[in-house]
Amino acid sequence: MTAKIIDGRKIAEIIKKEASNELEKLYTKYNIKANITTIKIGNNPSSDLYLKLRDKACKEIGILSNHLEFSDDVTEREIIRSIKKLNSDERIHGILLQFPIPDHISANKLFKTIDSNKDIEGLNPYNIGKTLIGDNSIIPCTPLAVLKILEYEKEKIEGKNIVIINHSNIVGKPLAILLLNRNATTSICHIFTKNLKDYTIKADILITAIGIPNMITKDFVKEGSFIIDVGISKNKNGITGDVDFNSVKDKINKITPVPGGVGPITVACSIKNMIQTYRNLLELKNY
Ligand SMILES: NC(=O)c1ccc[n+]([C@@H]2O[C@H](COP(=O)([O-])OP(=O)(O)OC[C@H]3O[C@@H](n4cnc5c(N)ncnc54)[C@H](OP(=O)(O)O)[C@@H]3O)[C@@H](O)[C@H]2O)c1
Repeated sequence: MTAKIIDGRKIAEIIKKEASNELEKLYTKYNIKANITTIKIGNNPSSDLYLKLRDKACKEIGILSNHLEFSDDVTEREIIRSIKKLNSDERIHGILLQFPIPDHISANKLFKTIDSNKDIEGLNPYNIGKTLIGDNSIIPCTPLAVLKILEYEKEKIEGKNIVIINHSNIVGKPLAILLLNRNATTSICHIFTKNLKDYTIKADILITAIGIPNMITKDFVKEGSFIIDVGISKNKNGITGDVDFNSVKDKINKITPVPGGVGPITVACSIKNMIQTYRNLLELKNY
């Protein structure tokens, strides 16, 4: 039997609808428009694509979205100064740092500077600490997108063998913690993992975020498993995920496609988080 292909756009629409209802309630109560700022450093075509998609989603539901753009050679100090200004600007409810950022700038320092109440990505150390202890007020957007997929597919997490190929701070590490907090047996694999297949072949749920097109073939996957493909690689025909769909499709049960899988849900989750920061600010000030 061929695998079920999950419709990420449909799940994204449901999340955006819920976010829109929440936004409407808050606007009716406080009569202040939600207003967020994205910091973009350098010229990266994939950043531009994400920005475009997010701006479109913000416009659709009525969030004001603006950008602060810097050239590649901007200093870390200058970015930190700008973040501090945004932190103290009462008109701004959320701050988003667009990845990738140049190597001479420390992402950790920037996330540490962003006010935890305005931290749309949920990557400030305070928010990451809250995620670690299971107090999930703002969950990083891509890990949240993966949780939403499992939720909408009514997939049981408890007791499952879940393997994540990725150990970045924005994807693999927070996702592993979130799944562990839901009683999965979670393994994190990365470039230094010896015999990767020994892990992936046992995964009831395999989450891959490598960025190497079609690397995951049928010899990596367990019969009847659920594969969530987070990877994005650009090529002349558009974008491709980590999984070779034709190779795995008759062996597995469910899969998220690329494009149209995790990507749109991640955008919807960032809208959800924007509304969380907007609520934080409004309730904090008790307007
Ligand atoms: N769909 C979405 O919404 C979304 C959101 C975020 C990211 N992404 C995509 O997800 C991918 C990862 O993003 P990222 O920012 O987390 O990048 P990253 O830090 O480069 O993550 C890649 C991960 O894959 C591991 N890896 C690389 N080659 C490997 C191999 N041959 N075997 C095993 N592990 C290997 C890396 O290990 P090392 O660190 O040890 O090298 C790292 O943990 C990219 O394709 C990105 O475009 C998609």
